[in-house]
Amino acid sequence: MGLLKVKNVYFKYKKDILHDINFDIEKGSFTALLGINGAGKSTLLKNINRILQPYKGCVLVEGIDTHKLSKNDIAKKISYTAQSNAASKMTVYDSILIGRKPYIKLHATEHDHKIVCEIIEYLRLSDYALRYTNELSGGEFQKVVVARALAQEPALLLLDEPTSSLDLKNQLDVMDIVKRYCTEKGIATIVSIHDINLSLRYADKFILLKDASVFACGGAEVITADHMREVYSVEVELHTIAGKPFVVPLRQIRE
Ligand SMILES: Nc1ncnc2c1ncn2[C@@H]1O[C@H](COP(=O)(O)OP(=O)(O)OP(=O)(O)O)[C@@H](O)[C@H]1O
Ligand SMILES: [Mg+2]
Repeated sequence: MGLLKVKNVYFKYKKDILHDINFDIEKGSFTALLGINGAGKSTLLKNINRILQPYKGCVLVEGIDTHKLSKNDIAKKISYTAQSNAASKMTVYDSILIGRKPYIKLHATEHDHKIVCEIIEYLRLSDYALRYTNELSGGEFQKVVVARALAQEPALLLLDEPTSSLDLKNQLDVMDIVKRYCTEKGIATIVSIHDINLSLRYADKFILLKDASVFACGGAEVITADHMREVYSVEVELHTIAGKPFVVPLRQIRE
């Protein structure tokens, strides 16, 4: 049985943003969610963790309709980082401890603190642990946001453009950490991302959104020049570098 099933999901603001969306996600897999600005990537992630409610269709996690789960129970299964996150006058440590909220009754337990400490070490954040998040660089803060999501011990991690404001080294750093940690723990990841080549480096599955629908879904074989033209209106060349496809944009297609 898959970890996540998105079944006939429809969502609209004024018009349909998601139209009959269907796909499955396996435990421990790494999926890239691709599509142009406004394609509905963020909306889809929010429908998966029920920040937004589909008006039709359902989302099943471990076979259970999320509609039947409390917010707290969803948070124990799915963690999510938004496209933009505000830092605050809170330490890195406390900020990550918030990830334990679904498990904390009155006070954080020794176990909660142990998880936070392990994640701080794993993400090499020890030097920052007592600094305020609003005094960190964008890249440092992004790692804290990811750390908080991992502290939630989810079965599914949803990351909305986690690398968009990062330099090259930090893009690789964040993706490496997420991939390694989630593979070790068997956590499935869905990442909304604009850098197709970065997604090809890490993801084993790709969902291409276009016109409110899933245009293509599958392994790296769905990243073809034809599909890139259809989805992004850009003519591309596909090369193979280090055994992986590499997309080189050539020109925009003017309609
Ligand atoms: N709160 C809202 N109210 C009305 N329309 C919205 C709202 N949020 C998003 N939309 C619209 O829904 C569509 C999908 O937006 P969404 O943010 O999901 O796209 P996206 O694929 O994440 O884009 P981007 O790559 O720019 O982040 C867009 O047309 C957007 O204008
Ligand atoms: Mg978005």
